[in-house]
Amino acid sequence: MRLLFLGDVVGRTGRKLVIDRLPGLRERFKLDFVIVNGENAAGGFGITEPILQALLDAGADVVTGGNHSWDQRESLVFIERHERLLRPINYPPGTPGRGSGLFKAANGADVLVVNAMGRVFMADLDCPFRAVEAELDACPLGRGADAVVIDFHAEATSEKQAIGHLVDGRASLVIGTHTHAPTSDDRVLKGGTAFMSDVGMCGDYDSVLGMQADEAINRFMSRIPRGRFQPANGVASLSGLAVEIDDRTGLAIRTNPLRLGGSLRSTEPHFWVE
Ligand SMILES: [Fe+2]
Ligand SMILES: [Fe+2]
Repeated sequence: MRLLFLGDVVGRTGRKLVIDRLPGLRERFKLDFVIVNGENAAGGFGITEPILQALLDAGADVVTGGNHSWDQRESLVFIERHERLLRPINYPPGTPGRGSGLFKAANGADVLVVNAMGRVFMADLDCPFRAVEAELDACPLGRGADAVVIDFHAEATSEKQAIGHLVDGRASLVIGTHTHAPTSDDRVLKGGTAFMSDVGMCGDYDSVLGMQADEAINRFMSRIPRGRFQPANGVASLSGLAVEIDDRTGLAIRTNPLRLGGSLRSTEPHFWVE
């Protein structure tokens, strides 16, 4: 099974790149399943229903969220209509929407996708480790699901790596989102779970986390906001991780970052290119 995960889509330039390129990528690499983190897709803050629909129409099977899931207030309402839009599972009971789902891939596989959020340097949600454990207990790899992907939306690499090792051998992929800078530690862990501390963002890297640098510098230096954060709308880079998964076991065989356009060095999943 061929799976692609694309990092946090930031603003118009990131969105346009994903929407333009994803249909071609799906076809060229014969992708079975695509997950996109969309928490910053609407001007850097949250997601709207038309943007969600555009990402799904472009070929995303699931769109995940994070700490910015609710920046557009309307998402509290429309998330209930969209099974393919996830928000972190460890928000308090009663939070609208859902944090996991079982989805059919193009090859017929049932893919469990779980979106969870870290607590180090972030909001104090319910324990993400226990939330992920509960999902894996309810829908174990090999019995409930043919593949399991966990989008762990977190700040600290230690917390992300701990989740990776906790579920090693019980998930196909644990992938970090949120920090908007791709790490070079993608690999398959001992037990067969693919892991990457952070997948990076789909946006303009000539920026601070996808936002224009001036206001970020100003806030660090003066501690007084001068205006709103505005997305940097120069040339975007698409940043993701390609994972090949063994259809028999649901465990990962290999990983390869996919980076296209903009200021990041380009890489392609070489194992899928003849
Ligand atoms: Fe983000
Ligand atoms: Fe985030």
